[in-house]
Amino acid sequence: MNPLRFAVLASGGGSNLQALLDRIRSGDLKAQLAFAASNNSQAKVLERARAAGSPAYHVSAKTDPSAGSGTGPGLEAGVTDKLLALAEKHPTDLWVLAGYMKKVPEDLLRRFPNRVINIHPALLPAFGGSGMFGSHVHEAVVKRGCQFTGVTIHMVSEEYDAGQIVLQRMVPIPPGADAEAVGRLVLTKEHDSYWRVLQAFVDGDIVPTDSMDPGKAVGVNPEWLKRMRGLDGFPA
Ligand code: GRF
Repeated sequence: MNPLRFAVLASGGGSNLQALLDRIRSGDLKAQLAFAASNNSQAKVLERARAAGSPAYHVSAKTDPSAGSGTGPGLEAGVTDKLLALAEKHPTDLWVLAGYMKKVPEDLLRRFPNRVINIHPALLPAFGGSGMFGSHVHEAVVKRGCQFTGVTIHMVSEEYDAGQIVLQRMVPIPPGADAEAVGRLVLTKEHDSYWRVLQAFVDGDIVPTDSMDPGKAVGVNPEWLKRMRGLDGFPA
């Protein structure tokens, strides 16, 4: 079985990338990091990729102004061209977003249909959409008095945070926990979740379809989902 070649797009610390790299090293995840790219030249995620022996690039509208054929809003066309060129140079089966603060170029979604995934630190469709990133999510969850939150891994479609959900993991909120504590619990759950979804692509438990319907981006093996539910103690 060929390892899955994935590209990571991220803007920050990259602890999710690190968790994937650790699972590759331990042999749990049969995948290869094709490359990492960030809109932020200082992002630690780039260091983490390089430390694992993979190429890492700073790609932004400032450093990569439009030069080629890519379309997209204004300067972002250059970013599209650069990302697509990187995927040519480093063959990529799947794009993995891990805290990427920019919108994924539409051209990229068209060139890699149903092959872009994202992780969100709450149970979508609650606490998603505009402004719902980083600590804002956990602050909103605590403010609302939620007793549960969680992790959502979903396919990326043109509409923000609205693609097909492939895995949700629940995180109970201890009474009195503040946003920071909730954020830590959720991040730990993220680290135990993303690699499982990537490995499901490797094992054929998640299969991209040819559908243009964002709700049918992938087929998900119900047996795999049952196993995932079992991880959190839910009955199949
Ligand atoms: C994670 O909470 C993820 O859910 C969100 O961005 C954060 C990235 O964290 N999309 P890290 O950079 O992987 O530590």
